[in-house]
Amino acid sequence: MKIAIQSNSGEHRFDCRERETILHAGLRQGVNLPYECATGTCGTCRARVMSGEYETVWKEAPGAKRLKPEKGDILMCQTHPRSDCSLRVPSQIAASNQPRPAPRRGILRDVKKLTDDVAHFNIDLSEPMSFEAGQFVVVGTRDLTGGRAYSMVNFDPSSAACLDLVLKRKPGGGFSDWLFAGRNGEEVEVFGPLGRAVFRPSEGKDIICIAGGSGIAGMMSILAHAVQVDYFRDHKGAVFFGVRTLKDTFYLDELSKFVQSSHGNLEVVVALSHESSCADCHEKYPALKLATGMVHEVAAKNIADRCENAIAYVAGPPPMVDGALRALMMNGLPVGSIRYDKFS
Ligand SMILES: Cc1cc2nc3c(=O)[nH]c(=O)nc-3n(C[C@H](O)[C@H](O)[C@H](O)COP(=O)(O)OP(=O)(O)OC[C@H]3O[C@@H](n4cnc5c(N)ncnc54)[C@H](O)[C@@H]3O)c2cc1C
Ligand code: FES
Repeated sequence: MKIAIQSNSGEHRFDCRERETILHAGLRQGVNLPYECATGTCGTCRARVMSGEYETVWKEAPGAKRLKPEKGDILMCQTHPRSDCSLRVPSQIAASNQPRPAPRRGILRDVKKLTDDVAHFNIDLSEPMSFEAGQFVVVGTRDLTGGRAYSMVNFDPSSAACLDLVLKRKPGGGFSDWLFAGRNGEEVEVFGPLGRAVFRPSEGKDIICIAGGSGIAGMMSILAHAVQVDYFRDHKGAVFFGVRTLKDTFYLDELSKFVQSSHGNLEVVVALSHESSCADCHEKYPALKLATGMVHEVAAKNIADRCENAIAYVAGPPPMVDGALRALMMNGLPVGSIRYDKFS
């Protein structure tokens, strides 16, 4: 099918395959369509179909709440065209300098629990993928309708044949329950890389990371990249990692290693929202600091002198992300220096 998009920056044309969403088709062909979650929750990819037939994948998608379907409003991440279509997108479509996403097949490997409700998993890819630290992929299985977004934990400077991912179990969640049933060797579909909350060493700024739960995933990739290029020789970093209690923590050994390779310029604070003390924490993790409270509140108290010339990365549950964004802006960080992913 042929897709024509009218935007505030002119017309863009691309092809769309059978069973492909308009968003994936455009991004795959280098048309930098607006999106955030790529999975139906945020509403950023809204468009109006001016002509053509189409099918909505997920009619109840939360991102579609404010749309007017009777006028042809759609989410591009939830729409398969059924004929050639002409659409109007109410924004600019700027050129992208990011790796182009593409579909790949993958095999799940090394699914293992890190805590009671957090699991690590790898995906061996049918073809290697280049991605920027902080990006994510959309993962689908034939057993479930719709893809789920997961941020890469690893970083490979050339091209990764294997993605390291981490999942925080959502009670009753489709992919959560599916993965926790133990899925080593299962085939999955992967679309990516996606996401604009990326770390680029050439920007030369200090970094602030605020993560709730599995929101630490993309931060691990950012820190891995930073350490690989010895970024903390000349720049400072602060990571605030929030979980409920010490037994919900993971990646503390890896975070300790990042601190140890940072020339004293990286600080990692683990914020426990439901526990106030930990007897042997300092002995076990001398490189890390411990605090009590919600992670965005802990960050708010500690970033006043860190925001000048910094870029902030935020990821996790939406209320935590909103709290962190408020804290960063109140401390003077301009909106353009804040990059975030809401895990909704
Ligand atoms: C950019 C981004 C990065 C993320 N990174 C991570 C991460 O690294 N680790 C992590 O634990 N979580 C991450 N998440 C959250 C993750 O994508 C899932 O929402 C979470 O794992 C719960 O999925 P579930 O299938 O268990 O729950 P469910 O409630 O079954 O599904 C949750 C999500 O799946 C999609 N979905 C559900 N039903 C349908 C349907 N019928 N059709 C189409 N789509 C549907 C929607 O996006 C929905 O919000 C990220 C989210 C985003 C947006
Ligand atoms: S990008 Fe389509 S709803 Fe978020």
